[in-house]
Amino acid sequence: MADVQPQTIFLSDYQVPDFLIEKTDLIFSLQETETTVTSTLLVKKNSASEKTNAPLILHGENLTLRSIAIDGRELAEDEYQVDAETLALTVSDQCIVTCVTVIKPQENTALEGLYKSSGMYCTQCEAEGFRKITYYLDRPDVMSVFSTKIIADKTLYPLLLSNGNLVNQGELDNNRHWAQWYDPFKKPAYLFALVAGDLALVEDGFTTQSGREITLRIYVEEKDIDKCDHAMQSLKRAMRWDEEVYGREYDLDLFMIVAVDDFNMGAMENKGLNIFNTSCVLAKPETTTDAGFQRVEGVVAHEYFHNWSGNRVTCRDWFQLSLKEGFTVFRDEEFSSDMGSRAVKRIEDVAFLRTTQFAEDAGPMAHPVQPPSFIEISNFYTLTIYEKGAEVVRMIHTLLGEYLFREGSDLYFQRHDGQAVTINDFIDAMETVSKRDFTQFKHWYTQAGTPVVTVTDSYNAKAQEYTLTIKQSCPSTPEATEEQKHAFHFPLCMGLVAEGKNIPLVLAGEDAESFSSVTNRLLEITESEQTFVFTHVPSKPVPSLFRQFSAPVRLSIQRTREDYLQLLAYDEDSFCRWDAGQQLAVSIIDELVVAYQQKKMIEIDPVLLEGLRVVLADNTLDKAMVSLLLSLPSEAYLSEIATVVDVDAIHFARQQLAEFLALGLHEELLAGYEALNVEETYQASADAIAKRSLKNAALSYLLLAETAKNASKHISSTDSPIAKQCYQQFATANNMTDSFSALKSLVHSVPEGKVIEEYQEKALAEFYAKWQHENLVVNQWLSVQATIPHASTLEKIKTLMAHESFSMTNPNKVRALIGAFTQNLVAFHQPSGEGYRFLAEQVIALNKTNPQIAARIIAPLTRWKKYDSHRQELMKTYLLQIKESPNLSKDVYEVVSKSL
Ligand code: BES
Ligand code: ZN
Repeated sequence: MADVQPQTIFLSDYQVPDFLIEKTDLIFSLQETETTVTSTLLVKKNSASEKTNAPLILHGENLTLRSIAIDGRELAEDEYQVDAETLALTVSDQCIVTCVTVIKPQENTALEGLYKSSGMYCTQCEAEGFRKITYYLDRPDVMSVFSTKIIADKTLYPLLLSNGNLVNQGELDNNRHWAQWYDPFKKPAYLFALVAGDLALVEDGFTTQSGREITLRIYVEEKDIDKCDHAMQSLKRAMRWDEEVYGREYDLDLFMIVAVDDFNMGAMENKGLNIFNTSCVLAKPETTTDAGFQRVEGVVAHEYFHNWSGNRVTCRDWFQLSLKEGFTVFRDEEFSSDMGSRAVKRIEDVAFLRTTQFAEDAGPMAHPVQPPSFIEISNFYTLTIYEKGAEVVRMIHTLLGEYLFREGSDLYFQRHDGQAVTINDFIDAMETVSKRDFTQFKHWYTQAGTPVVTVTDSYNAKAQEYTLTIKQSCPSTPEATEEQKHAFHFPLCMGLVAEGKNIPLVLAGEDAESFSSVTNRLLEITESEQTFVFTHVPSKPVPSLFRQFSAPVRLSIQRTREDYLQLLAYDEDSFCRWDAGQQLAVSIIDELVVAYQQKKMIEIDPVLLEGLRVVLADNTLDKAMVSLLLSLPSEAYLSEIATVVDVDAIHFARQQLAEFLALGLHEELLAGYEALNVEETYQASADAIAKRSLKNAALSYLLLAETAKNASKHISSTDSPIAKQCYQQFATANNMTDSFSALKSLVHSVPEGKVIEEYQEKALAEFYAKWQHENLVVNQWLSVQATIPHASTLEKIKTLMAHESFSMTNPNKVRALIGAFTQNLVAFHQPSGEGYRFLAEQVIALNKTNPQIAARIIAPLTRWKKYDSHRQELMKTYLLQIKESPNLSKDVYEVVSKSL
């Protein structure tokens, strides 16, 4: 890329296509060294285009053109122009374009377009992969009816799949066979899919609300056939849920999921033929953790939900990506909430958003939910498009309420079925049904950055009045400065806690009687400063703000530890209760960070310890909630909220607090662990997951207490009953959650003596020996080692890269080892800069084979502004080294150039 500057694409340059493709007929002849693609397109002038005599410009990349014909007449070389990205020709207002191209799926390591994975052919066309298969109008507003014929060797590829319904099949000479598929629904090329391979299947059925019978099939390798049940059950639950909650029924007679090993993303919603990363389909208790089970359920639902939010109604252009992704993430989050614990799901989602998306929004790649421009669209499948996009839809849901939101979504689907539309069309439907004006709300789509909401309060005892003042601002981001930004419109759900009660909320001027049982209110914020006065407030309350995290903002408020303790104990809102515990922990850790920096030893405030003691004694609480309350804010979250990340101080301070809690709560934790450590048959129910979660949180603290005690006694821990118990649980558990959790606790604990070290080595070796033939389990084994919080981890990783189980061409392995390493605060950010150097080398290597993955794993380096000047210099040096390496892909170029 050193020679040609990659082009920036702007939303403001959008123009309707000059041509449409009404019908697309494809013939794939799959051969061992190459594949021939014959496409026959019914092309028509788009009546909405004002241009006259516009040429037909098709997209195409890395294609060998064999022939091109218009209405059956083959064109001479001077009748069309080809360059690296397009093919241009002159056509009439309606014609048939036939094109023969040759591609090499065997050599495709970028995993975009048609490629081979573990002996099977598969495709990934979103966002712009179809142009690597044949010349086409590869843009989502060109929707076509696809008919696909696949021809391949019968022995190697007995299974031939594409979108829609199988309409015909037959045999040919030379041991070849063919299958013809037809998809009656118009779709953009990014939803096209093809699979050819030798796979086993699990089949089930679903009867829709209107009584139609749908065949459901999941295709996997024969060895994985025992790991499909959970995905199938999840699919059926998702289908039922979408009928009940959104009134959306499935449309084709057949729904297929195919699992592949090599996949850049989690899964893809191709019409009628979803293609999944094996990591998002396969699950069974012996090999898959609870988190894995939940991930499968969520991803299966997400891709299924796209059938309406994405496929039937699709995006006009890629700037509208969040229209389908934000909405669908909101839908899958709600689905998971309904299937399990709503409170727990919300806390997990918010914790994820606040650590990852807030960091993105504060970094050099920050962009609005509807970005104004991009160089490479693959770089914009971001946390902002997905997670913030979902939060924005959630705010609309909160503002409108369940009923009107459903009316709005019905209207959106009805108005736009079969169309390629914009985010504005979605908002418009919501405005129509609610008769509300969302003009100001739309700033959420066009302004990047996380708003800061600053709250101050005052209490007038005499008047029994309580005043809340809400101010908002939003820091500068690449597209606009703080001064240029408009105030956001958002819901602020809140309550007031006083003397251990959630008190009635009466605003000045309201009748107290009518609000006597209202302890939760939605305030609408639209101004940069707003004041609310509550009356009948008997004593100074602690405000409980952004209940259920009602808006994706940073809350800035002065609170005492006593205030946090009040909320932790009494807030009726589960999210705020949890967050009070987190912020209390943050305030203690902050103090310990300062002490570490000043090389002072301080007494730890026991306030959190006492709060958690109460939590542990409360038998009415959901066990998953208790487990969440017990877990300290992650290093990633602590880094995100820090102005300057002091790597060692954060790690040390957090560890110090964890040890303090472990020692102080020892008795309760031991009792809890023993009560929960009973042999049970595995269930993936919310209740069973909750129990395992609490049990394993307790075990991890207990081990910490033991190693801390042994260390403080300066003795070699010859007597380590908990370490032994950990090993025992690891070795004998009947499920991966318990086994892996114990392994992780063991492996991540600082070895204070021979005993632990021996267990660590033994457990890791036994784990690999037992699971070496289970790819996904081996990935967990790689990750657990890549995240050991120690500087020596880098050497371990280098060794593991040469291990038989590692492969640089499999994205799951790259994520498991290299991706996990970049999340390892102390190992990645070691002051020598060796962690950064290592990452730069891997990025440069991956840039050649898989640019999407290369661009994704750079992210941690782009956050250089958060670190001390020494680390900043090192991080920039390695970013520059990447930028100056030869043949940079658009993907990597965009990320490094925007972050330097
Ligand atoms: N449409 C995406 C998959 C995709 C993303 C394809 C980027 C090509 C480029 C799919 O619907 C998706 O969003 N998948 C997520 C998982 C989901 C549960 C959020 C993924 O793959 O991570
Ligand atoms: Zn999606």
